[in-house]
Amino acid sequence: MQTATHDYSLRWEEDALLTVDQRQLPHTVRLLRITTVDELIEAIRSLAIRGAPALGVAGAFGVVLAMRAHSTGTDVDFGGVHRDAERLARARPTAVNLAWGVRRALGKVSSGRDAALNEALAMLAEDERVNRSAAENAADVVLRLCPDRPLRVLTHCNTGRLATAAFGTALGAIRVLAGRGRIEGVLVDETRPLLQGARLTCWELKELHIPHRLVVDSAAAWAMAQGEVDCVLVGADRIAANGDTANKIGTYSLALAAQRHRIPFVVVAPESTRDLGIASGRDIVVEERGAEEVLEFGGASVAPAATSVYNPAFDVTPANLISAVVTERGCVLARDDLVPGGS
Ligand code: MRU
Repeated sequence: MQTATHDYSLRWEEDALLTVDQRQLPHTVRLLRITTVDELIEAIRSLAIRGAPALGVAGAFGVVLAMRAHSTGTDVDFGGVHRDAERLARARPTAVNLAWGVRRALGKVSSGRDAALNEALAMLAEDERVNRSAAENAADVVLRLCPDRPLRVLTHCNTGRLATAAFGTALGAIRVLAGRGRIEGVLVDETRPLLQGARLTCWELKELHIPHRLVVDSAAAWAMAQGEVDCVLVGADRIAANGDTANKIGTYSLALAAQRHRIPFVVVAPESTRDLGIASGRDIVVEERGAEEVLEFGGASVAPAATSVYNPAFDVTPANLISAVVTERGCVLARDDLVPGGS
């Protein structure tokens, strides 16, 4: 491991995947050097690498690592590569991007060792382009929905460069809006239990010099009631064909509160997060994580020993609570009353 400051979150260098270790932020900017599929699975499960688009790209590089592990000279044990790919794709179940990224690179393995690597490198570059387009499109949609004043945006979890290969999705849209001089400030949900908002989004917003305030998740509805929020911008882990959207736990409550206060609720994601193979959110598997994430805070216990815990990492927001879903293709799903002619 090395310590450094870099503006990328994933990179391929000398037969290894280099990534910013998101578990250590905001205190330490540390690079993790991953050379095996098992190391990658552990990094994904423990959220050293996280965020749907970053998981997709990491999954593709995982196939490259599997190819290297199962190659002797020009012989490749394709069975071994496929078994590793399956384990990788299952490391986290909710974000469709992980399985998508694994599948895309796996589709190239029969064309040789370099073909999978070239595909993963192409996905790395593509992710930045796609995020920039989605972010620009989302900024346009937000300005149509909220044309009147410098915006107070509320966001949840981390959807920035750390959660992607570069630039970010919902946080990318906030960057674009800030670049156009349209952001007054960002309210950042801390995002219990693992604090992706507090630890990662505040870190990125500070780096970008975008004004922001951190709120506890349970303050969001009250902030809306107090007229402190013009628009909610979030990312996604999986979007069903009908627009139902899985994202970090707490997103559904934000959408309910936004509807109550007639505040636009916009989802920004790459097309690779849309799963047109499932009709609705009922088919989305919601990852449940370990009890210790809820029973402890900063390593200190916050509940009586052996308390039972329910710890869903995601929730599914029904499409009818979402004003618009915006991707690199534009506004792909919209509630007509909120985005006239949007989809
Ligand atoms: O558990 P995490 O931190 O991987 O959850 C991430 C999210 O919920 C993000 O909002 C989503 O992946 C979109 S990232 C551009």
